[in-house]
Amino acid sequence: MNSIIVSCKNIVKTFNAGEAEVKALQGVTLDVYENELLMLVGPSGCGKTTFVSVLSGLLSFDSGACEVMGKNIADMSDEEITAFRGKNIGFVFQAFNLLPSLTAIENVALPLTVAGEKRTKALNLSKKMLEAVGLGKKAYVKPSGLSGGEQQRVAIARALVHNPKFIICDEPTSSLDHTSGQIVMELLQKIIKEKGASMIVVTHDNRIYKYADRIVHMEDGKIIKVAS
Ligand SMILES: Nc1ncnc2c1ncn2[C@@H]1O[C@H](COP(=O)(O)OP(=O)(O)O)[C@@H](O)[C@H]1O
Ligand SMILES: [Mg+2]
Repeated sequence: MNSIIVSCKNIVKTFNAGEAEVKALQGVTLDVYENELLMLVGPSGCGKTTFVSVLSGLLSFDSGACEVMGKNIADMSDEEITAFRGKNIGFVFQAFNLLPSLTAIENVALPLTVAGEKRTKALNLSKKMLEAVGLGKKAYVKPSGLSGGEQQRVAIARALVHNPKFIICDEPTSSLDHTSGQIVMELLQKIIKEKGASMIVVTHDNRIYKYADRIVHMEDGKIIKVAS
C-alpha cells in the first residue's frame, strides 16, 4: 500500500452568506495516497471546490482535521501555508489563467521567478517542462496563438514546473473539446506516474473517468461513494 499524502477527517465547512447558511462540507473524511490519480465528482454545488480549497489551505474550515504531507493545515500561519503551497502543491483550473502578454515559456517560468529563481535557470526549466507536455516548439508563442488544449497544457507545465508532490486540478477539461480533454488527461496521468506525485481531479466530465485510480462521489457536502 502506498503511503498517505493527504488525510482529512470529518471536515465541516459552513458559509454564511447574509441571512442564509450554506453547509458546503458536512463531515468529509478522505485519504489520498502517493502516486494516485483521484477523481472527485458530483453535481454542481455539492462542495468539490470547497473541499480542495480546504485541503490546499486556501479556505479555513469549522471543524475536523486535515494533514497534508504530515503537516496539520490548521496549525500553520497564513505565511507558512502560502510558502508550503508554493513549494508542494500545483494547481490547474478550468480557466487557464495565462497572462496574455507573455509567451508560453514566460508564463511557465513566472512562478519560479516570483519565488526568486534566476531568470536563465527558470527559462531552462520551463523549456524542459514545455517539451514534456509536447509544446517545445510553441515555447515563444503567446496564448492568443495557441488552441484551448494547448493553453491548458501550458497551464499544466506552469503548475508542475516546481515539481510539486501534490497536484489539484479543478475541472481541467471543462472548457476543452473531447480530443483535447483526452490529451490533457493522458498527459496528467503520465506525469503523476513518472514523478510519483498524487493528484486530485475535480470533474463532472464522465468521459475522463477512465483515467482515475479511484473515483470519489460527493453529494450535498458529503462523500456518498468511493469506487476503484
Ligand atoms: N464563498 C462562498 N460564499 C458562500 N457560499 C459559497 C461560497 N463558495 C461556495 N459556496 C456554496 O457552497 C456550496 C458548494 O460550492 P462548491 O464547493 O463551489 O461546489 P462545486 O465545486 O461542487 O460545484 C454551494 O452551495 C455554493 O453556492
Ligand atoms: Mg467547483
